[in-house]
Amino acid sequence: MSADQSPVRPALTALALPPNWRPAVRTGLRFWAISRVAFLAYGLVLAALVPAVRPKNASSAALWPVTLYSRYDSGHFAHIAVFGYPLKPFRLPLMNGDNDHAFLPGYPIGARWLADALTGGKPGPHSYLVALAVLAWLGAALAAVLIWRLAADETNAEIADRAVVILLAGPYAIFLMASYSEGVFLAFALAAWLAGRRDRWWLAGLMAAGAAQAASKLNVVATTEDLARRAAKKITADIEPLTPVTDPRVAAANGDLIVPPKKFKLGETETAFSDCAHVYEGRADINGQEHLYLETQGAYALPTESGIKIYSSTQGPTAVQRAVCKVTGLPMHQVEVDVQRLGGGFGGKEDQANAWAAICAVGTQLTRRPVKYALHRMEDMRMTGKRHPYSANYKIGLDRDLKIIAYEAVFYQNAGAACDLSPAVLERTLFHCTNSYFVPNVTATAYSCRTNLPPNTAFRGFGGPQGMFVIESAIARAAEKLGVTAAEIQAKNLIQNGDEFPYGQLAESEAVTSWQQADAKYDFAQLKKEADEFNANSRYFKKGVALMPVCFGISFTKTPMNQARSLVHVYTDGSVAVSTGAVEMGQGVNTKIAQVAANIFGLPIDKVRIHTTNTLRIANTSPTAASAAADLNGKATQTACETIRDRLFEIAKDLVEAETIQDLSLKSGFIYRKGERTSLDWQTVVMDAHLKRVSLSEHSHYATPGINFDWTIAKGHPFSYHVYGTAIVGVTVDCLRGRYEIDYVKCCHDFGSSMNTAVDNGQIEGGVVQGIGWMTMEEVVYDAAGKLRSNALSTYKVPDIYSIPKEIAILPLETGRENLAIFNSKAVGEPPLMYGIGAYFAIRNAVKVFAECEPEFDAPFTPEKVLMNLYAGKLADS
Ligand code: MTE
Ligand code: HPA
Ligand code: MOS
Repeated sequence: MSADQSPVRPALTALALPPNWRPAVRTGLRFWAISRVAFLAYGLVLAALVPAVRPKNASSAALWPVTLYSRYDSGHFAHIAVFGYPLKPFRLPLMNGDNDHAFLPGYPIGARWLADALTGGKPGPHSYLVALAVLAWLGAALAAVLIWRLAADETNAEIADRAVVILLAGPYAIFLMASYSEGVFLAFALAAWLAGRRDRWWLAGLMAAGAAQAASKLNVVATTEDLARRAAKKITADIEPLTPVTDPRVAAANGDLIVPPKKFKLGETETAFSDCAHVYEGRADINGQEHLYLETQGAYALPTESGIKIYSSTQGPTAVQRAVCKVTGLPMHQVEVDVQRLGGGFGGKEDQANAWAAICAVGTQLTRRPVKYALHRMEDMRMTGKRHPYSANYKIGLDRDLKIIAYEAVFYQNAGAACDLSPAVLERTLFHCTNSYFVPNVTATAYSCRTNLPPNTAFRGFGGPQGMFVIESAIARAAEKLGVTAAEIQAKNLIQNGDEFPYGQLAESEAVTSWQQADAKYDFAQLKKEADEFNANSRYFKKGVALMPVCFGISFTKTPMNQARSLVHVYTDGSVAVSTGAVEMGQGVNTKIAQVAANIFGLPIDKVRIHTTNTLRIANTSPTAASAAADLNGKATQTACETIRDRLFEIAKDLVEAETIQDLSLKSGFIYRKGERTSLDWQTVVMDAHLKRVSLSEHSHYATPGINFDWTIAKGHPFSYHVYGTAIVGVTVDCLRGRYEIDYVKCCHDFGSSMNTAVDNGQIEGGVVQGIGWMTMEEVVYDAAGKLRSNALSTYKVPDIYSIPKEIAILPLETGRENLAIFNSKAVGEPPLMYGIGAYFAIRNAVKVFAECEPEFDAPFTPEKVLMNLYAGKLADS
């Protein structure tokens, strides 16, 4: 994207040198040379005209020195600075208003030096420099035209967009990610030279300030945060505001898509609709969501003997490593990324931690000093992407029995200004567009629309929740038109074993079981009855109840990402160190991986230590995402531990006189033979193995078996398994004020067999609350100029202690079924978020009890919107 198309430039493009920078620089040098030759030739022709153009009132004190540089910057033009003389008479149309820079103090000072040098300090008004000034100016204009023509060429445009320009200036080291401009570049080369001279640093600073004005993206490095922030304040940018596009439908109408549209098709909707007894169409809008991880984005880079080491708050250490390599030019083996843990990620650090790490790395590369950068909350909220907002159209067709026969949906995803993870998110929207239901005829189309907002990104559920909201809206609409509850339609359409998802995979379904077990435990009819009775007796408070079944596919939808590695060391004192590609961000993955190792080695958990996620120990990691980290990294750890264990058993076999290692097991620090404890303990067998020169280390790889997907036909078996569940959500709406409380969320959730109920219940509680926040109160607001208005916690409301459900009840689904999860314990990170969708529909149901209305589907259902719907009829009447 060029600067001309968008007022918002993603920071990321600033960091990326084009991979083919050598030819680009060669082209750059070539047209620099051409411009200089043209300059000179034109200047000679015009030399004769000098006396005629010299202003009569020119002061004799004026030195007429000149620094000149022609500036080529994505369609901007030439600059020239003349000190001591008003330039206005000579202003050329091509200067495009940009010659303000000519008056910035850095250039004139440089210019005086040049003049002094050329005239031996005694220049006169008729100095040849007068001529040079004029000539140069006109020459620069010609050069500008030449450059302008050259810039039309794509390669050159790339240089313009991507070059990295550096300035080091005394205590400040200001470096600019500037557009390519030989003028700026030369100025900075001079400044860098000056930086070696402490007495002159201010000059470099002044020159930088001038150049900075011309630059489109810049970063400041300083010895303290305060200094850096003060220096940054000195930078101003010339921006020509254009009208931004923030609505994905508008972007789609303009044909501005990130990738070509994607489509899922099952059966034939066209004909199926004509067989339906009931067909409803409508629209659903879903807003974004701020991640609000407690720890904002940031990184810390240090120089090492072999390259750069970066501590990053990222879910994807390898993604950070790649980004750093791209901007520094270092090969991957010289860049080490290390992650201890995150103060939350929620998807926001799957791809968007890269920029900050790369900025730090560039700073370190230039200064050979450690560089740290952590965003302020407001910066983080403004600069980083959020959950993708969507706007969608749906069409749903049912038969007389309330069976959904056909479903069509068109999704307009608000991708923001750059690709980021939008295509993958878009795909997951399609994968979950029918949620837990079997629909025989489906056509779902999805557009990833480019808007002028910060690029939106992964967020718990990764597009799935948006897809589900739309079909739940369609069902709610059908229910209110048909005079039945949504639950009646939901129950009739739950996907069964062997039913086909629109993407071709056959269901191994727990949808019906989870629905039934939730009903058996919580009694839907009774909860509905209680609400009805309450409503009959309460004038201004109304209760609403909604059911929310969830079916979420586990695996990265990009099949190659479903791999992981684990490095396990057993030390001679019997302690165990494990490193994997998983990043701990509060979801408890380290606890689960430690449990895997402790379980296989039969050790107490404190004998196992999970170490940082580090690209030197574990290479080529997939990000910790898609809820799959415990499965992928846990399985790799399982294999590594089992390999070491079997080696130890070979040693132990002789010591305890077992016939085969199958007779051996490890428990509470001892070797067991045929279930009987022996006197051989863990530590002894470990030491014995070491003395016998048997390896106590293992590095294992896991790749999820049996998954594939073919986008040419949009069919395959993308998911290792699905997680199912059913939640019932009850709310009370204060119909005078529009406020509401969540009375309860009661769910039957498919854990498989949980490895750690404390961790898993915590994930459900956190996910549910985050989902409710997204659906009912968190409102991301951009104004017409594309500026984020909800940029602080005063204007962006997240769930607090008062708004969380009064009760969250969790019933583990009982199922005897095997699955492909680690120790049969299904992934839990994302699926519970989608129970929060039930809160939207529960509030809607309560509103409908109070007021005869059919509220639009426009999430979040904030108290303001609730109030407007409660009184929509009255407002219209009055
Ligand atoms: N839980 C906490 N406390 N903090 C987080 O950042 N991220 C969620 C979920 N649970 C997150 C969390 C997201 S978006 C994902 S994909 C999973 O955790 C990732 O971890 P897992 O694969 O280990 O489940
Ligand atoms: N989920 C989460 N993150 C991802 C995925 C996915 O399916 N694909 C790529 N990144
Ligand atoms: Mo989670 S959105 O897959 O990081």
